[in-house]
Amino acid sequence: MSPRIHPSILSADFVNFDAELQRIATADLVHVDVMDNHFVPNLTFGLPMVQRIQEVSPVPLDVHLMIEDADRWAPDYAETGAYSVTFHAEAAADPVAVARRLREIGARAGIALKPGTPVEPYLELLPEFDLVLVMTVEPGFGGQSFMPQVMPKLQALRDERQRSGLDVWLQVDGGVALDTIAIAAEAGADTFVAGSAVYGKPDTDAAIAELRSAAER
Ligand code: DX5
Ligand code: ZN
Repeated sequence: MSPRIHPSILSADFVNFDAELQRIATADLVHVDVMDNHFVPNLTFGLPMVQRIQEVSPVPLDVHLMIEDADRWAPDYAETGAYSVTFHAEAAADPVAVARRLREIGARAGIALKPGTPVEPYLELLPEFDLVLVMTVEPGFGGQSFMPQVMPKLQALRDERQRSGLDVWLQVDGGVALDTIAIAAEAGADTFVAGSAVYGKPDTDAAIAELRSAAER
């Protein structure tokens, strides 16, 4: 199976989203970072903007919620028609109930683990999720350095996926670039978010293709 590349529009030009979305039409999904300035110390945009991005994007959305009270808000993001909606483990009072609701609406349900969040409590919940996002930076900002020390979490998830035969995507987000993507692929990731490594390049489609082939090796 070919690795999935999800460019993050956090590194795009925020006043030209329409054109910026057309630049990544060869991506698998477009990664949309929603931040509320509470769960993380940064603020991006909310539901009306995601709704509009969904309408103009040639590629379906992979929404990454870095917001409090996912129980209340995550389903609304799924209602926009997003392909996947991922919330942080600490941000939901009842992560399983949120995931079930997301699936009912028709989105892939994702759970995100910050670098300091252990994976063990979530291994037994794997059947409830379609995606696990292992953060390879502290969430909040683009352009940070990849943290190889979280790779054991991916290895544990890969082993559990292998054992259970579940169809769950293992995603990494943060500092993913040509010189780091193979480390994550080797540890078990199959889905790669890249902000600066795509939007920082003049030819975004070439950057996507290069990342894909670097992950395949
Ligand atoms: C960070 C965001 C990432 C960010 C990654 O909190 O979740 O999606 O855009 O940016 P890069 O790829 O530049 O590290
Ligand atoms: Zn993200």
